[in-house]
Amino acid sequence: MADNNVMDSLVALCKRRGFVYPASEIYGGINGFWDYGPLGVQLKNNIRDHWWRRMVECPPMGPDGHPLQIVGLDSAIIQNPRTWEASGHVAGFNDPMVDCKECKARFRADQVMWYALTDIEQKSTIAAGLVFASSIVGAESALVPELKRIGRKENIPALKKDPQVVRLSEREAGGLGHFHVEAAGEIVARGRLATPNWDGPGKDEVCCPACGEKGSLTEPRLFNLMYHTYNGPIHDDANKVYLRPETAQGIFLDYKNVLDTMRVKVPFGVAQIGKAFRNEVTPRNFIFRSREFEQMEMEWFCHPDESLKWYEFWKAERMKWWESLGISRGNLRFRDHAADELAHYSKACVDVEYLYPFTAPDYGELEGIAHRGCFDLTQHQQHSGRDLSYFDQDLQVRLQNEGVDKEQIRQRSRYIPNVIEPASGLTRAVLVLLCEAYTPDPERPSKVYMKFHPKFAPVKAAVLPLVAKDGMPEIAEKLYNELRERFVVELDVKQNIGKRYARQDEIGTPFCFTIDGQTKEDGTVTTRYRDTLQQDRIPLENVGRFLEEQMAASE
Ligand code: GAP
Repeated sequence: MADNNVMDSLVALCKRRGFVYPASEIYGGINGFWDYGPLGVQLKNNIRDHWWRRMVECPPMGPDGHPLQIVGLDSAIIQNPRTWEASGHVAGFNDPMVDCKECKARFRADQVMWYALTDIEQKSTIAAGLVFASSIVGAESALVPELKRIGRKENIPALKKDPQVVRLSEREAGGLGHFHVEAAGEIVARGRLATPNWDGPGKDEVCCPACGEKGSLTEPRLFNLMYHTYNGPIHDDANKVYLRPETAQGIFLDYKNVLDTMRVKVPFGVAQIGKAFRNEVTPRNFIFRSREFEQMEMEWFCHPDESLKWYEFWKAERMKWWESLGISRGNLRFRDHAADELAHYSKACVDVEYLYPFTAPDYGELEGIAHRGCFDLTQHQQHSGRDLSYFDQDLQVRLQNEGVDKEQIRQRSRYIPNVIEPASGLTRAVLVLLCEAYTPDPERPSKVYMKFHPKFAPVKAAVLPLVAKDGMPEIAEKLYNELRERFVVELDVKQNIGKRYARQDEIGTPFCFTIDGQTKEDGTVTTRYRDTLQQDRIPLENVGRFLEEQMAASE
C-alpha cells in the first residue's frame, strides 16, 4: 500500500541534509521546480556519469560480440521553432485540463476520476463524485474528508473513525480502478474509479476536488505543455521559440552532422543528457513530475528490418543498467504499452517502472523504451527539405554478393533508419535511488539511514577526529588530504561523535574513519561500516587501500 509517511520523512530528510530544496524557497517556492543541494547534485552526477560511461564511453557489447558504437551530444535547449512543428509537439504535446470556475484550481482532466462508493452491506451506491486518481493512495488521500462527510450523511459509524482508502493492485481487484475503504480494521465500503465521460449525463453533479463546489468544472481544454519565450527583443509570434520538452529532438537534428563527421555507420547511437522543460498541469510527488527536469536519452539508428531485434536488445540492457544502480529487481518491472497507447508511428513501447512509495502497490514510470520507426527523421526531412536518408554501403556489398539486381540494390541500400529510444529521467533516477536507499532503523540514533550503493553514495567516507584536541584534528586532516585526491570524502570535526555518525548515516556514507586516542599509540583508526555498524581497527597507512578495495568490491 502507498506509504505517504515514507515520502514525508524522505522529503524532510532531503531538505534537512542538503539533497533537495524547494526552488526559490525564500520567496515561497515555485510549484514544480526544485534545487539539488550539495549532496543531491553529487548523487545526480554519480548517476549521470554512470549512464554516460555505460552508454557512450564503454557501451554494451552487441549481439555479435563487438562493442556498440554510440557517440555523445550536447545540443541547444532552444532550437529553431520549426523543430517542434515537425516533431508534432506544437500540435500534439497537450494535456486536457479542467478549471474550477469558483476557486480557479486547475486539474488534468485525465487525472480527475469519478468514484462510485458502494455500501458493502446493502450493496447500494452510497456516493459518487470526483477525485484525483493519484490521490487514492492512502489515509492522506483527498478522498478521506469526503468519506467522512459521507459517513455522517449515510450513517456508517465506522467511517467517521480514521477511514483508510486502500488502492488495490490489479491482481487483487481485477482492475486498477478498484479500492476499498477500511475503518477500524474492517472493510466498510468498496469503490471503483473511472475517467469521467465529460460529455455524459451527470457532469453538472460533480464537485471540484479542491473546493467541493458542485458543477463548477469547465469542459476539458487542451493545454500545450511547452514553455515558450521570444528570441530577440521583439515579442511577437514570428520570434516565438520553445524550451525543449525532450532532449531527443536535438539528436535528430544533428543526426546528419554526426554521420558526416564521425566514423559511425548504421547501427549506431547518439546519446544526450540535459535539461527538459514541461509546463505540467499538475507537478507532483516531490521530484517525480517536475516542470524542469533532466533526461538521459539515446537514439539508436538501425536498419528497419533489424529494429525489433534491437528493441528487445535495449529492453534487456536497460533493465540490467537499472539493476547496476543497486535497485532490487523486485522493485522494477516492465510494462508493455497496449496497442491503443502507442503513438501512431510506434511499433512497440515499454516502460521500466519502479515501485515508488506513493504508487505502491502499483509501479510508476522510470524510463520509456520506444520503437519510433522512421517517424522523426522522415518528419525532419519533409519539414527541412534536407535529405536524411542513409546510404548503407555494407548492405550494398552484401546484396551485390548475393546477386541481387542493380535497381533493387539501389533502392534497398538507401533508407531512413528506424530508431529505438531508451529515454529516462535523470532526476527521476535520483528519486528512485533516494527511495531505494531509505532504510528505517529504530536502533540507530538517526532512526533511518540511506543505504546507497557505495558507487552512488554522494560521500564515500568521512574522516572524524574523536575530539578536537590532542593532535587528533591534525592527523585527521592529513588523512583527509590524502583521500580527497581519489575519493569524495568529508572531514567533520564538529559535535560529538554520535551526532556525526548519525549525520553520516543519514547522508548514506558507507565508511567512517575515526581518529582516537589509540591512533597516536599504535597508528590504527576505527573503521565504521554504515550497513552493519561493525567497527574494526585498521592501520592509518592502509586506509586509502582499504577504501579502494571496498569501492572496487562494490562495483
Ligand atoms: N523522448 C521521449 C520522451 O521524452 P517521455 O516518456 O515523455 O519520453 C522520458 O520522457 C522520461 O523522462 C520519463 O520516463 C521520465 O523518467 C522523465 N520525465 C518525463 N517527464 C518528466 C517530468 N515532468 N518530471 C521528471 N521526469 C520526467
